[in-house]
Amino acid sequence: MSTHRRIQALVAVLAVAGGTSMAILDALGAAAAVLTGGALLVLMIQLWHQNRVLGSKLDAVQHRLATGIEKLVEADRSTPYSKLASAAATLQVEVGALRTSLSEIGDELRELEGDAQQQRARLRREVRSLRHEPLTQSQALTQLLGAFTPDAPLPPVGGWAMEPTTLVEIVDLIARVQPQVVLECGSGTSTVWIAQALRRNGSGRVISLDHDAEYAHSTRTQLARHSLSDWAEVRYAPLVPTATELGEKHWYEVDLESIPKIDLLVVDGPPEGTGEMARYPAVPVLSPRLSASAVIVLDDAHRRDEREAARLWTDQLGLDWSRDIAGRATVLGSGPDPANASVPKPPSTAVAPPAPAAAPGHE
Ligand SMILES: C[S@@+](CC[C@H](N)C(=O)[O-])C[C@H]1O[C@@H](n2cnc3c(N)ncnc32)[C@H](O)[C@@H]1O
Repeated sequence: MSTHRRIQALVAVLAVAGGTSMAILDALGAAAAVLTGGALLVLMIQLWHQNRVLGSKLDAVQHRLATGIEKLVEADRSTPYSKLASAAATLQVEVGALRTSLSEIGDELRELEGDAQQQRARLRREVRSLRHEPLTQSQALTQLLGAFTPDAPLPPVGGWAMEPTTLVEIVDLIARVQPQVVLECGSGTSTVWIAQALRRNGSGRVISLDHDAEYAHSTRTQLARHSLSDWAEVRYAPLVPTATELGEKHWYEVDLESIPKIDLLVVDGPPEGTGEMARYPAVPVLSPRLSASAVIVLDDAHRRDEREAARLWTDQLGLDWSRDIAGRATVLGSGPDPANASVPKPPSTAVAPPAPAAAPGHE
């Protein structure tokens, strides 16, 4: 393909991207349109910038070539052979440089075309899921609220807090697995819902780790407002350098001896901003405390690091299955998936909260 054609192809990609943007604006509500339009605008600005860079490279090459040709034309018959040969050699070098530049430009254009295609496919997927997302999340929230009567205003869901689709899955798992110990990494709204589900079971306890003393305090306040403090313990656990197979990571400072056998592990922290593969240490560090049938819920599993962590955990623990939760979380485990187990009837009368779970050595 000639350079001219490649540039035409690039312009065509821009036009299609623009067309897609218009179609999306028509098809979706204002929120989706703003998001998608913004992403497309960024893509188009990137393409425009790359096009300008390529254009100036081409100009420079053309200029060098023209200079070389001029020199050759200027050389008339009276020019000594040595001068002619030197001009020809210079021209040959320029032609070589031109060839290299053209091939680099071709590579860059091919890369750009590939990027643009990938971005369009990703945007199309995101737009499609945006259409269903509010319905999916409100269905999950309705299901959650149907299962419990809150004692106080509920903390927010979504954003930093877990999405209703993940919460409804955890609440269901707690009913089916009847865990005696839930360990949560990253406290917040989810801790309240987990504690409610344990109270409904009539047994169990959640230990929630938080690296931020303020958020730990705010989760404790939420638990108290909902009369759930007896079912949950929020531990302030600052992030400390922790050696793993992937090198040093920052993970919660936690005394393993103080953690009883874990039946359900919920990983929603540390936040991704604390480092690459921030949540990976959860399984390598806690594996000595995981019960043989422990179920693991990993939130934000649509992110690359979390997908990779889930893959590594599956190998390390020899897990049998994993299940996607609305594209936001993954549930992993060994043996039969508890989603297929029946739900034991909750106790009909209010039950007293359990004594704090026994630490290892007292089991
Ligand atoms: C993904 S959040 C955990 C959310 C929790 N599982 C929930 O459902 O609410 C991970 C950590 O981020 C911190 N965090 C929570 N809310 C935050 C906010 N609005 N802004 C910044 N950090 C926040 C807390 O320290 C928390 O442990």
